[in-house]
Amino acid sequence: MRLTTLAPFLALALALGLPLTLAAPTSPSASPLPLIIWHGLGDRYDADGLSQVAELAAQVHPGSYVYPIRISEDGSDDQKATFFGNLTTQINTVCTTLSTDPLLNSNHTRIDALGFSQGGQFLRGLIETCPSIRVRSLVTFGSQHNGIAKFQTCGTWDLLCKGAVGLVRGNAWTAWVQGNIVPAQYYREINETTGEGSETYLDSSGWLADVNNERDVKNAKYKERLGALERFVMYIFSEDKTVIPKESGWFAEVNATDGTVTQVRNRTMYAEDWIGLRRLDEKGALVFREAPGEHMRLDEDLLRETFAAYFGPERESWDGTETETTSGGEDQVVLGLYEL
Ligand SMILES: *[C@@H]1O[C@H](CO)[C@@H](O)[C@H](O)[C@H]1NC(C)=O
Ligand SMILES: *[C@@H]1O[C@H](CO)[C@@H](O)[C@H](O)[C@H]1NC(C)=O
Ligand SMILES: *[C@@H]1O[C@H](CO)[C@@H](O)[C@H](O)[C@H]1NC(C)=O
Ligand SMILES: *[C@@H]1O[C@H](CO)[C@@H](O)[C@H](O)[C@H]1NC(C)=O
Ligand SMILES: *[C@@H]1O[C@H](CO)[C@@H](O)[C@H](O)[C@H]1NC(C)=O
Repeated sequence: MRLTTLAPFLALALALGLPLTLAAPTSPSASPLPLIIWHGLGDRYDADGLSQVAELAAQVHPGSYVYPIRISEDGSDDQKATFFGNLTTQINTVCTTLSTDPLLNSNHTRIDALGFSQGGQFLRGLIETCPSIRVRSLVTFGSQHNGIAKFQTCGTWDLLCKGAVGLVRGNAWTAWVQGNIVPAQYYREINETTGEGSETYLDSSGWLADVNNERDVKNAKYKERLGALERFVMYIFSEDKTVIPKESGWFAEVNATDGTVTQVRNRTMYAEDWIGLRRLDEKGALVFREAPGEHMRLDEDLLRETFAAYFGPERESWDGTETETTSGGEDQVVLGLYEL
C-alpha cells in the first residue's frame, strides 16, 4: 500500500523560499475567504497530506480558515466512506454541516472550494444541490466530472478497494450497488450511436446522471447555482492513467471505440447548458488547465500559484489570473492512498 508522500512538503517550501507570483488585486487588510477541501478516494480528512495542503493555503493567504470535509469525525470511518455509502446522503450531510458551521456560513460568507480527484465532482455536486452555501471559486484536480468508463485496478493489499470493486463486478447497475458503492455512483456508460449516456445509465445511475442533469427533466437550480461561481478551474493530469478517461476532468466525452475526444464546448450538455457550464464560459469563468505527470502528482509550486490566483480575500477583478501556470518544478507529491 502506498502511503502519502507529502511529508517533506512544507520544509521544502520554506527551504526554497518560493516567491509568491500572481499577486491578486485585493486590498491588503481584507481577510481571506474560508476554504473547504474535499479529499479523494481512500484518503481521510485528518491525513498529514491534507493538513499540509491546508497549511500551504494559510501560508499563501495568512489567516485562512480551512475546513477539510469529512463524512465522519473518525478518520478511519471517513476513509471507508470514500468507498461505501450513498453519495446523495453523504453530500446532503456535508451540506447540513457546512450550513450550520458559524465560521463558514454566518452573515452570508462566501467560501472557496478545492477538490482532489473524486472530491472534486462531489464539491461540484454539493454546489449544485446545497441551497445555503455560497461558493466563489471551485478548483478541481484530476476529477471525474463526466464519470468513469472503467473501475480502477486495485493494488494487491488495497482491501477496501478490492472489497468495493468486487461488489461492483457484473452488478454495477443494481440499486444496491448504486446506493452503496461510491465509485459506482459516478460510473457512466455511453450509447455509441448517440454519444449520450446509455439508457441503462440514465435509468440506474445513483448520482452522476442527476447532478449532470442528463435526464429529460432538468433541475434548473443546478444550473443556476453552478453558473453563479466566479471561477471554476479544472485541472487534468497529462499522463493520468488512473482516471479513464482523463478528459472527464474537463467534462469531455470520449468515444470508447475510436478514442475520439469531444470537448465539452461541442457537447449537448454545453449547447443546452444543462448545468451552467456555458454560462460560466461566457463570462470567462470556466478555466481548463493541464498539469504535467500522472494522476495527483501535485506539484507544490502549482498549488501555490493556484491558491494565489483563485483563493484569498474578495477581489474587485480577476486580472492576471488567466496566464498559463504550467509548473516546471520537479518536487511532486502524491495525495491519498488510492489516488482516485
Ligand atoms: C456582516 O457583514 C457586513 C459586511 O460584510 C458587515 O458590515 C457587518 O458588520 C457584518 N455583521 C455581523 C453581525 O458580523
Ligand atoms: C440514496 O439516498 C437518497 C436520499 O438520501 C435516496 O433518495 C436514494 O434513493 C438513495 N439511493 C439508493 C440507490 O438507495
Ligand atoms: C442507442 O441509441 C439508439 C438511438 O436512440 C437506440 O436505438 C439504441 O437502442 C441504443 N443502444 C443501446 C445499446 O441502448
Ligand atoms: C464512435 O466511434 C465509432 C468508430 O469510429 C463510430 O462508428 C461511432 O459513430 C462513434 N460514435 C459517436 C457517437 O460519434
Ligand atoms: C467544436 O466547437 C468549436 C467552438 O467551440 C468549433 O470551432 C469546432 O468546429 C467544433 N468542433 C466540432 C467537431 O464540432
